[in-house]
Amino acid sequence: MAEQQGWTPILAEAEIARGTAKGIEVAGRNIAVYQLEDSTLCATDNVCTHAFVPPSEGWFEDCLIECPLHGGQFDVRTGQAQGAPVDEDLRTHAVRVTDGMIEVMLDEAARHWQVV
Ligand code: FES
Repeated sequence: MAEQQGWTPILAEAEIARGTAKGIEVAGRNIAVYQLEDSTLCATDNVCTHAFVPPSEGWFEDCLIECPLHGGQFDVRTGQAQGAPVDEDLRTHAVRVTDGMIEVMLDEAARHWQVV
């Protein structure tokens, strides 16, 4: 499958509630979308930088996502790792909403579960 880049629709805005995270696979990439309680949308890679686990399946509160495997935490606004066991930030993606669809800006360097 060819790499997809640029603004890419991934999810209807109505499909994600405030205070929740959702993992989406698009064009062979794993992306996590988060809606903060104030409605701010954020997106990161959905592959923990510690091991290959989707952070979106972990605990999410305020702006922090906690990886379900070892409890590493990331600030979803910046991707910043919050301390051991994670020391590498999550890659973030720009987000916008167009006609009710959440779009993320994908680039070549996004992490993959696998290259298809
Ligand atoms: Fe995410 Fe270890 S796999 S903290």
